[in-house]
Amino acid sequence: MACSHTTMMITIWFPVAQVLILLLQVSRIEAKVPALIVFGDSSVDAGNNNYIPTVARSNFQPYGRDFSGGRATGRFSNGRIATDFIAQALGIKPTIPAYLDPVYNISDFATGVTFASAGSGYDNATSDVLSVIPLWKELEYYQDYQKKLRAHLGEKQANETISEALYIISAGTNDFLENYYAMPGGRQSQFTITQFEDFLTGIAENFVKKLHGLGARKISLGGLPPMGCMPLERTTNIMGQHLCVERYNNLALEFNGKLYNLVVKLNKELPGINLVFSNPFYAFMHIIRRPALYGFEVTEVACCATGMFEMGYACGRTNPFTCPNADKYVFWDAFHPTQKTNKIIADYVVKKVLFKFL
Ligand SMILES: *[C@@H]1O[C@H](CO)[C@@H](O)[C@H](O)[C@H]1NC(C)=O
Ligand SMILES: *[C@@H]1O[C@H](CO)[C@@H](O)[C@H](O)[C@H]1NC(C)=O
Ligand SMILES: *[C@@H]1O[C@H](CO)[C@@H](O)[C@H](O)[C@H]1NC(C)=O
Repeated sequence: MACSHTTMMITIWFPVAQVLILLLQVSRIEAKVPALIVFGDSSVDAGNNNYIPTVARSNFQPYGRDFSGGRATGRFSNGRIATDFIAQALGIKPTIPAYLDPVYNISDFATGVTFASAGSGYDNATSDVLSVIPLWKELEYYQDYQKKLRAHLGEKQANETISEALYIISAGTNDFLENYYAMPGGRQSQFTITQFEDFLTGIAENFVKKLHGLGARKISLGGLPPMGCMPLERTTNIMGQHLCVERYNNLALEFNGKLYNLVVKLNKELPGINLVFSNPFYAFMHIIRRPALYGFEVTEVACCATGMFEMGYACGRTNPFTCPNADKYVFWDAFHPTQKTNKIIADYVVKKVLFKFL
């Protein structure tokens, strides 16, 4: 009797101990990345462009119709974007707010903020096309943020957040599609495409070095998606029967190779840095090639309007062609994925690359 009583005590005590250990581990995981800090273009902008004079906007319906409260925040999607899902997967919070949005303050930004601007890129000439926030300016905002964070948390705690936060950089597509190939008199007359890739890689390198100099340690440099498969590019591929534009996909692969080499190099050069390359290309390509595996029905055109070329203001509320269920579509507008695609890509990147920061 006494013996079985002891056994029972042990079996009861054991799970409790395990639960305690589990709880301790969970709280440690949550503390490991105290904030997600984001730079880049529309892939990661949560509404900064609402507060600058530009036509690169999406703070109106049907954008955001599947977001919490059906709100059009300025995210270029029907719902959340990849960095929102990443923040959630890291146990931080479900959405990352835009730095220029006056609804939020430093209390909110202390656990995550995006400085990204739709239409931006590595090259200053890219952000000039639609008068959006250039990458160097995003970094200035970040320095401004550091000051506010130190005032808010105190210097010691702010320094810890700065060095333990995960920094995400997602840009590059616009440098090629909105700038180099769209403005024939511009960068094309100065650089061959190879030279332009190297020019952009050089800017990315400087950016990471400056970020590191400001105290960042955990940094994810994002690769390009298969940009030749965006509905807008397919639409203009008239001679190619509206298939993906191979030239752009190959360019994305080549540029991703250069970013990857940069990541290897900077990990050797910069003390204490933990730089990773987050490559969405193959996961995205798999969705496009095998949509049914993910429950998608349409990949060639987007949900919004005719799905062939509309984005921003052209993808307006009154368009009668907009699809009723965006979850069946890989793309929301002619240039941006649906919330469902964003989640699949974000989960993939967390599982493959970012898990090491947990
Ligand atoms: C931020 O805003 C919230 C309410 O919106 C307020 O309670 C809080 O005091 C503000 N924090 C700072 C640091 O201004
Ligand atoms: C971009 O513009 C900023 C501000 O004028 C400047 O400091 C920077 O050198 C420029 N970048 C390049 C690569 O020209
Ligand atoms: C915080 O970081 C800044 C910049 O690296 C440094 O000058 C300062 O001494 C640090 N303060 C504390 C309390 O760690």
